[in-house]
Amino acid sequence: MQQGSIIGGFLAPHPPHLVYGENPPQNEPRSQGGWEPLRWAYERARASLDALKPDVLLVHSPHWMTQVGHHFLGVPRLAGKSVDPIFPNLFRYEFGLDVDVELAEACCDEARAGGLVAKMMRNPDFRVDYGTITTLHMIRPQWDIPVVGISANNSPYYLNTEEGLQEMDILGKATRRAIEKTGRRAVLLASNTLSHWHFHEEPAIPEDMSKEHPENFEGYKWDMRVIEMLRQGKVDDYFKLQPQFIEEAFAEVKSGALTWMFAAMGYPNIPGELHGYGSVIGTGNAVMEWNLVKAGLAAPVETIPA
Ligand SMILES: [Fe+2]
Repeated sequence: MQQGSIIGGFLAPHPPHLVYGENPPQNEPRSQGGWEPLRWAYERARASLDALKPDVLLVHSPHWMTQVGHHFLGVPRLAGKSVDPIFPNLFRYEFGLDVDVELAEACCDEARAGGLVAKMMRNPDFRVDYGTITTLHMIRPQWDIPVVGISANNSPYYLNTEEGLQEMDILGKATRRAIEKTGRRAVLLASNTLSHWHFHEEPAIPEDMSKEHPENFEGYKWDMRVIEMLRQGKVDDYFKLQPQFIEEAFAEVKSGALTWMFAAMGYPNIPGELHGYGSVIGTGNAVMEWNLVKAGLAAPVETIPA
């Protein structure tokens, strides 16, 4: 078997407002649009993903919370209705997705080999969380690529930030080994918002963009600083600053997805491509891409022998 590789990673945040603004047939509530700059950012990311032609999408979501260990979706086909408990008025989505169970099991085995508590999720009636669904819908609305869904153990919240993110580093490296061993060409999705200060009341019309802006100037400035660093390829510098960013901007990257993704990719100091930035109920969201094929760190699909 050809050795697998990670061909790209995306920072792919999951505000359900983006799905609501798009009005896909799967989502029950209807909107008049809204959050267009972020939705157009996702359109650009979709085109890149399409050109990469991955076998599988792996997504780590902060909203599938598992208190004991890191869990992996482990049922070949999952379908049902996913509802956002905070915004049920915006997100009631009929999902159906295919899971790459073989890769998920390999990830779980490698995570255990790395010393983590890890478990396969085998409940056929499991309702996939809105974070996983929103990220997957926004990046690939066709739902034609199998996925591996990974829970948030949220160890940075129960332990301390540093210790918890060390676990995410181990999980990322385990994910990479599993991808290599199973021969997959994989794209990773870090389902995270940046600054996470948010408004506590919604406008009468949620998509009224005259009410949308960053909740907090300090959070906005942090986002710009972090994005600029990542655009310049200063990944090592970013990870040195990340604990302070988390502390001062209440950043959702605390839940670990970005650390997991970069650990899996080997923390390459390559420029990230910003597809767009925007606020959602005051939080800061960037859609960014690290294309390892363009960077010469992974082979394009055509050069791989059959
Ligand atoms: Fe979130």
